[in-house]
Amino acid sequence: MKMNRYTSECKKLEAYPKTWLITGVAGFIGSNLLETLLKLNQAVVGLDNFATGHKHNLDEVQGSVSTEQWTRFCFIEGDIRNLEHCQQVCQGVDYVLHQAALGSVPRSIADPITTNAANITGFLNMLVAARDAGVKSFTYAASSSTYGDHPALPKVEENIGKPLSPYAVTKYVNELYADVFSRTYGFNTIGLRYFNVFGKRQDPNGAYAAVIPKWTAAMINGEDLFINGDGETSRDFCFIENTVQMNILAATAPDEAKNEVYNVALGDRTSLNTLFDALKTALADNGVAYTKPPIYREFRTGDVRHSQADICKAQRKLGYAPIHRIYDGIGQAMPWYVQMLCK
Ligand SMILES: NC(=O)c1ccc[n+]([C@@H]2O[C@H](COP(=O)([O-])OP(=O)(O)OC[C@H]3O[C@@H](n4cnc5c(N)ncnc54)[C@H](O)[C@@H]3O)[C@@H](O)[C@H]2O)c1
Repeated sequence: MKMNRYTSECKKLEAYPKTWLITGVAGFIGSNLLETLLKLNQAVVGLDNFATGHKHNLDEVQGSVSTEQWTRFCFIEGDIRNLEHCQQVCQGVDYVLHQAALGSVPRSIADPITTNAANITGFLNMLVAARDAGVKSFTYAASSSTYGDHPALPKVEENIGKPLSPYAVTKYVNELYADVFSRTYGFNTIGLRYFNVFGKRQDPNGAYAAVIPKWTAAMINGEDLFINGDGETSRDFCFIENTVQMNILAATAPDEAKNEVYNVALGDRTSLNTLFDALKTALADNGVAYTKPPIYREFRTGDVRHSQADICKAQRKLGYAPIHRIYDGIGQAMPWYVQMLCK
């Protein structure tokens, strides 16, 4: 049987290890990328300012790899809003996975200036630093929020609408800058439009927690759980392992697949009501019973009603083959939340 592209790229990386830079390495997606790359015996430089990331995420990765693998990781506490920090971490790097940003639509509505500084100034600093350091590839975290008010479903990369939040503006500006860097300097990048990624180490705490960790924490703590709107709002929830796969496929992609953006999702649509039931069932399987009904409240400003990706482009041009469906991902993530929150 023919090996899929992800398996063959991982084998190549193990045979010929590379040096990677992960910005936002102490965050949810960044720390999962770190874990996979160290397990593939890669050298990794990590940058983070702990704005929303945590040292305990790095400690957890350390506990999951060998001592020798951990020695291949170099962490630098720094800020992408500072060009010198970006220049410092890009030195000698083959592949950049730029994840650092301030996520969350509501956060950006509450404080657009701080989100803009990290997500646009910081992004531009990273582009300049990576271009000047001559890295082999630059893969960055884009977002499904770029589809904005475009009504079509599923979402196809070429058809976007108007952004519905400051956060969505910043992620769209990233794509515009990336495209201009290709045309102006011949520096080709790949943007990954993530659709609601979830999995272990996604932060359940704070006002801006994403829905899966927020609801999971509420259920474990026996608290009231709120659904914004009627619960039929839907999302294309994507398990972290699929996202990690896409980053590795993008970083190692041939030139003809670059200067493009790709959806990173499953191609499924799950309503919030269905998600509520799935989380409840998965927690029950882990010995946690939640008996309260959800409390329905107002729709949230800036939220799109439905989101579902067309993943054909990623399958065709990058060899993306997501193997983790939503129930499987939730089943894998729950023991981590139970262990962390039931301490
Ligand atoms: N999780 C999702 O569903 C999702 C969806 C779409 C896009 N994204 C994007 O993916 C990326 C990673 O998101 P995540 O879910 O892992 O979030 P996260 O908050 O867990 O991780 C982001 C990391 O970036 C760091 N960071 C923020 N500002 C920084 C700065 N100025 N300098 C250095 N580090 C900084 C934070 O401390 C954190 O560790 C972000 O760019 C986000 O916008 C995520």
